[in-house]
Amino acid sequence: MEEKIVLPNHIGIIMDGNGRWATKRGLSRSEGHRAGANTLKKLCIFLNQQGLKYLSLYAFSTENFKREAKEVEYLMNLFIKMFKEEFASLHKENVRVVFSGKKEPLRNDVLEAMNELMQKTKDNTGCCLNICLNYGGQYEIADMTKKLCEEYKKDKITLDDITPEYIQENLYQNLPPLDLVIRTGGEQRLSNFMLYQASYAEFFFTDTYFPDLDEKELTRIINDFNKRNRRFGGN
Ligand code: FPP
Repeated sequence: MEEKIVLPNHIGIIMDGNGRWATKRGLSRSEGHRAGANTLKKLCIFLNQQGLKYLSLYAFSTENFKREAKEVEYLMNLFIKMFKEEFASLHKENVRVVFSGKKEPLRNDVLEAMNELMQKTKDNTGCCLNICLNYGGQYEIADMTKKLCEEYKKDKITLDDITPEYIQENLYQNLPPLDLVIRTGGEQRLSNFMLYQASYAEFFFTDTYFPDLDEKELTRIINDFNKRNRRFGGN
């Protein structure tokens, strides 16, 4: 049997470069997103089979609504198709899907497909796949702050209850910190992705466009991560 790779607990991927992948091939940007969706499914199945506990993916930022209406519509329809049909294979593989992000202004049919998938997979015990959709890290922190202020106003918590752990529990999902953040597509920035959870993450940037990210490169990145010396502020 092939040896399993040593994995971090929580990996995040900023899936960038779908558009450029398509343009390079004379295809439409939509075809790039379609190819990215296939890659996502394949990599999630691979990482789950390797035993990964948490995988967070940046699917659509709150700022992505500024894109051309046609592209936004294509992506929303693609999300529905993936969640309703193609993610059946993830369910079969025991993956539990959760979402992070704001509801507004997502269409009802998108919200329904998200809910359905979440409900269907809620008792699965494999990898937890956190899909950041209509997500912004600054909004997540603002929304958490509002929630804690409400609790404080209603005397449900005191100021001393507000600890880093309590903040984590009150973000969109209660997930452990990110250990490794991978960004494809050549840019070296966080773009508002899981700001709180990425505090002590290791970063890996690759020029590969997301649709071309494969198991081999992912394994290489994880092996590189395993060699890093994480000090968490100590020495
Ligand atoms: C960034 O590439 C990618 C996105 C904004 C969309 C990511 C979506 C997918 C991978 C499709 C499926 C997702 C799910 C959750 C089913 P870009 O379009 O900004 O590429 P560019 O920088 O080359 O233009």
